[in-house]
Amino acid sequence: MGIFPGIFAYLSYNRIMDTPLFGIPNSEMVIVLGILVGFGLLEAMAGYAQRTERSGHDWMMELGSFMLLSVVTKPLLFATTLFLCQTLFPAGNGIFSGWPLVAGVAVFLLVDDFFQYWYHRFAHEYEWLWKLHRSHHQAEEMGFFVSYRNAALYYFLMPNVWWIGVFTFLGGAKAVAIGLILKQAVIISSHSTLTWDSFFYRRPWLSPVMTLLERIFITPAFHHAHHAQTKLDGIGDPNNNFGNMFSFWDQLFGTAVYTRQFPSAYGLVNDPKEPWTAQMLYPIVAADNPRSELARSFEKVSTANAVPQEVHLEKGQAYLWCACGKSQSQPFCDGSHHGSKFKPVRFEARRTGPVRLCNCKLTKSSPFCDDSHIDFVP
Ligand code: FES
Repeated sequence: MGIFPGIFAYLSYNRIMDTPLFGIPNSEMVIVLGILVGFGLLEAMAGYAQRTERSGHDWMMELGSFMLLSVVTKPLLFATTLFLCQTLFPAGNGIFSGWPLVAGVAVFLLVDDFFQYWYHRFAHEYEWLWKLHRSHHQAEEMGFFVSYRNAALYYFLMPNVWWIGVFTFLGGAKAVAIGLILKQAVIISSHSTLTWDSFFYRRPWLSPVMTLLERIFITPAFHHAHHAQTKLDGIGDPNNNFGNMFSFWDQLFGTAVYTRQFPSAYGLVNDPKEPWTAQMLYPIVAADNPRSELARSFEKVSTANAVPQEVHLEKGQAYLWCACGKSQSQPFCDGSHHGSKFKPVRFEARRTGPVRLCNCKLTKSSPFCDDSHIDFVP
């Protein structure tokens, strides 16, 4: 199958299925679009349209990246994958077509979501990939459209977008169609301002139901926590909760945090708010602002040093100590750890008064100085 037939196959799944889903051509695409429009309408009816303070750049970024993903990236990758599979592994064409549909949907979704968990996690742990995902976390308000807010290259490199084509080639086109509907429904709902799970949290007798649900699927509270500006409020945690459809990957790999509450602030600390063109098209288009991570000249330099810092703390107040050594506000975190495996250390002061916090980042009793700075090499 060549590139152009591949595009047509994507635009019309039913061409590569024995029968179209529900007997209606392209029904899965219409359903996903319907879910998106449905959430949009419900959010607007709930007053979000009046409350929002989104900028024009936010709207352009979110609408633009959704259009680019839907009209260019996915069709192109789908066609390319079909072409590559047919060229390199022709014997695999349709080998799973005899599978029961339920098994096909389960396998498609499990592999898809496993890929996405690690891709998303790597996007927080490696700087080059963080720069492509960063715009997703610049949104200072949640909402259905945040779901698709990423640089174009982020989607292009996303393994589970390639997996759609591979599983279709193997004979799972109908399972892919159903899987995409289910997955997009969960993803859109977890970004939405319609926090349906609050209904369960307010009714303790429903707690067992919620426990079951949240141990399997990503809920709004679970994912909103990931979009928090910091973990200072004890609810948000942008360096955990990486799952997309299923939460068991986070539980399995030690990154699940459940609070059943919603963070007090979303977005990034010290956000230079690049124009939407740089957010969407980086690295082809870079930011002019030298403070921006998307500027060509930008570099994160170490600010760790061998001198412990004496700071005045207030009893009961929470602080975030910088563990990565790159904050511009030492000894406290300013978000510079994004794009690395470091996470800030949250602590609450036990008394009011001065303390010596570690600035070399070698302490064994963070956040306090334990004289490890004698081993510090600048
Ligand atoms: S800036 Fe956050 S841990 Fe260093």
